[in-house]
Amino acid sequence: MLLRSHDAMSGRFITFEGVEGSGKSTNIVWTDYFLREHGIDTLRTHEPGRTKIGEEIRRVLLHTRDEPLMPMTELFMMFASRTQLLEEVIIPALRSGVWVLCDRFVDSSIAYQGGGRQLGVKRVAALVEAMGDLYIEPDLTILLDIPAKLIPARLSNRTLDRFEREDEAFFERIRATYLAQARELPRMNVIDATQPLEDVEQAIEALLSPLITAD
Ligand code: TYD
Repeated sequence: MLLRSHDAMSGRFITFEGVEGSGKSTNIVWTDYFLREHGIDTLRTHEPGRTKIGEEIRRVLLHTRDEPLMPMTELFMMFASRTQLLEEVIIPALRSGVWVLCDRFVDSSIAYQGGGRQLGVKRVAALVEAMGDLYIEPDLTILLDIPAKLIPARLSNRTLDRFEREDEAFFERIRATYLAQARELPRMNVIDATQPLEDVEQAIEALLSPLITAD
């Protein structure tokens, strides 16, 4: 497959980040409706998974119990699912002018594997580098921020997966890594996700508006 730069694509690439229970799913659905109301064609997707191969990888990542999944294995699997999704879904959609809304992307690997699993941001960045032209820089990243201590209450009615069973310190490291990334990256915008939902929506709308008018 011939690889291309994002400049050659007409759709916008918007990613959503945050710890478990930060409200990504709810806000992606809202964003999707908002953009469609503005006549924009959208595609909602998520990581890890979505493609057939990606979903098999996801099952191992989230539900392996019988033997420990090593942090580096976890990291490579996240990128394996990601490159499959980029080639099969994200790049073709962006090329056809569709706006892609992705629940988690590279910043999740930086925060969870780099920070949470303590592999270090540099090691994850090296994998991003290794992706070459296959890496698509998001136009906008929305980081829904909540303190780690709020996670258990927000997950209370779910069956917990391998990540959700981790302790508060793990999620504090993830949050700190996310916030440090946001300070470095202009595309990454932090929204306080402890606010009422309408206020979160308003903050998202303020970030989307310049992208809509620029088109
Ligand atoms: P998911 O059920 O999609 O979680 P959420 O609804 O919170 O997004 O599970 C994805 C899990 O995988 C989540 O705990 C975060 C983790 N993850 C990583 O650790 N690294 C990554 O690069 C990605 C994409 C996800």
